[in-house]
Amino acid sequence: LKFEGYPHVLKSQQFSRKWVEKVLFPLSDKISNLLKKKNRDKLRNLLKNKTMVSLFASESSRTRASHEIGFNLMGGKVAFTSASANISSAMGKGESFEDTVKLFDQYHCDLIVARNDSAEQMPIDSIARGIRTPIINAGDGAGKDKQHPTQALLDIYTIYKHLGKMDNLRIAVIGDLKNGRTVRSLCYLLAKWRIKHIYLVSPLKLKVSADIKSYLRRHNIKFSEHCDIRKIAPKVNVFYQTRTQTNLGSPKMSRSKTNKSKEFTIINKEVLNLCSKSKNSIIMHPLPCLEEITRNEVDKDPRSVYFESKTSVPSQLKCGLITRMAIMLLMLNPKKAKAILKS
Ligand code: NCD
Repeated sequence: LKFEGYPHVLKSQQFSRKWVEKVLFPLSDKISNLLKKKNRDKLRNLLKNKTMVSLFASESSRTRASHEIGFNLMGGKVAFTSASANISSAMGKGESFEDTVKLFDQYHCDLIVARNDSAEQMPIDSIARGIRTPIINAGDGAGKDKQHPTQALLDIYTIYKHLGKMDNLRIAVIGDLKNGRTVRSLCYLLAKWRIKHIYLVSPLKLKVSADIKSYLRRHNIKFSEHCDIRKIAPKVNVFYQTRTQTNLGSPKMSRSKTNKSKEFTIINKEVLNLCSKSKNSIIMHPLPCLEEITRNEVDKDPRSVYFESKTSVPSQLKCGLITRMAIMLLMLNPKKAKAILKS
């Protein structure tokens, strides 16, 4: 059940298509069912006596909450949580992120969930090499390899649930392709399927980095770069919009202003109208969403799945809780995970 023998969740490359389709997706479906009120009691013993340390050295709502609440729902205990570890843990005194993660390795916790946006601190996958406690990279901000692997896993689960497949899709990844860690993790993961085409749509200042392009080339995924979403909108199945990553070094700029020039990277009514309703398409966003989606025009559209789903299939937001619960269960109690899969 383990993903390619790794004890940790660090980057998209570590997962195989087979593991995702045969283990993660079906287990997530089961968890989704167990989350229904009448079944929720069955979750309570899955992580009994397990403890988690939740170490977020930078802003987060969804990622932190879905790990912590998901862990609690399965009967585990969040033993230490630091909303802003850079201030409220000894990191505020200047202790390194590496030492902070490492100390919990000696305190017998079962899982460390860690996020860090600072480029000065050691990347999470380097820190993980030296520790035995399983660690989840909940968003690394250091260096050009920054990733957010659980986001990519929940993203493809969302695509799969809403469109029923991954192969042959045309996917537009939009916005801050330069500094978005969700973008990198998603592109790396998508390359494991036979994606028909990836459209990389960004303002000129935020173009996709070279490593993502060479990765896609190596995996024979067709892609093209654009700065006007309207040009390709009629062909797209998945619109994956992203925010400008000002916290990761991107310049503050108004996207709505750039819409007047050759750059057009906002999703609004005009874009929705270009994309045929009969075609299978969805609008996604890892959130938080600022000005890059005109919410009063797009939220109510049946194709928008980021915040609320208009069908019985869970929203992208909810898929985050579901898949992260599945991942944590696989990491900490694979026996129970197996039993649930067979049930
Ligand atoms: C993303 C992140 O932190 O990288 N947020 C998240 O985890 N849902 C995307 C973002 O902040 O724009």
